[in-house]
Amino acid sequence: MPEASSPVSPAAAPAPRVFSGIQPTADSFHLGNYLGALRQWVSLQDTHETFYCVVDLHAITVEHDPELLRRRTRLSVAQLIAMGVDPDRATLFVQSHVPEHAELAWVLGCITGFGEASRMTQFKDKSSKQGASGTSVGLFTYPVLQAADILLYTPDPGSAVLRVPVGEDQRQHLELTRTLAQRFNHRFGETFVAPEAHIPEGAAKITDLQEPDAKMSKSASSPQGIIDVLEEPGPMRKKIMRAVTDTGTEVVYDEEKKAGVTNLLRIYSALDGTSVPDLEAKYAGSGYGQFKKDLAEVVLGTFTPIRERTAALLDDPAELDRILGKGAERAGAVAARTMEIVRERVGFVGRGR
Ligand code: AMP
Ligand code: TRP
Repeated sequence: MPEASSPVSPAAAPAPRVFSGIQPTADSFHLGNYLGALRQWVSLQDTHETFYCVVDLHAITVEHDPELLRRRTRLSVAQLIAMGVDPDRATLFVQSHVPEHAELAWVLGCITGFGEASRMTQFKDKSSKQGASGTSVGLFTYPVLQAADILLYTPDPGSAVLRVPVGEDQRQHLELTRTLAQRFNHRFGETFVAPEAHIPEGAAKITDLQEPDAKMSKSASSPQGIIDVLEEPGPMRKKIMRAVTDTGTEVVYDEEKKAGVTNLLRIYSALDGTSVPDLEAKYAGSGYGQFKKDLAEVVLGTFTPIRERTAALLDDPAELDRILGKGAERAGAVAARTMEIVRERVGFVGRGR
């Protein structure tokens, strides 16, 4: 049993830590997920100790089909590896394999105010869509579970940072996580590092191809508005060619007057590395057709290898499960240690051995 004052993580040199999670709620990740979040997951592996979690407990906060969830969970893991998450360097795991996530969520729920949880805008949006009878208590406490996900992987208080790469829409949940970390520390002693949202510059906000003023979103966009990572080349090209632009002809960046073209320029630049001004120069006078055609090839150049690697990984489910077993073991060891300290601080009697 650790001393009340002992730090949470082992004595090893504290590397900055990263934790992030994604829900297995679609048949494919989309371009917004990729550019807004997942691409950062891959690059952060070089400089941080990384924990990446497929959050299946979060996925059941709305009505779901069990077989579909199982399939999408493996599919999510395969896509992450195909995108470059390296299970030898990152700890890649499934949330339900580490029961401490639910356990810490309970404890944190008990220091979360009802009013404070009621102010979460994502809950307000989702629950207004589901209606009162379709809104579960799990959906209400979703952000508390998210806080538990993150705080289980806290480094030593005072010694290191915990970064959480997410899109802009997750900022409020991150703020709640910070508040809960500080409140727990205040009541029970220094235990958690307050995590920082990591919203890097390159994390472009990608909009819907058909409604360029709205976010590309698996729940709100029509299939024509979304570019899926696993999409076949034919339909992918068509969607990009049919992306909404404007009645003009010039390929120039203008968020207000040319939201469609601006979104396409952002995508092109983020995937290909060419700056927006260079792209504007390249397509000066050439119209939208050629620009879109080239963009489709740029998107396919990134996503075709990912699609092929994902298929190959899914062909070997035993290997995928072995990877997840290893991830759960590594994550579980960290989570168990944190939870042991939490139980002690909160005042639970230690279990006899
Ligand atoms: P979601 O698919 O909404 O669960 O989001 C998963 C991750 O992708 C989160 O970190 C989001 O912030 C990010 N994300 C989702 N849609 C977009 C988008 N259209 N542009 C940028 N980032 C996004
Ligand atoms: N709520 C996040 C999303 O919708 C997913 C998530 C769950 C998460 N737990 C997390 C993200 C912990 C970062 C850290 O994208």
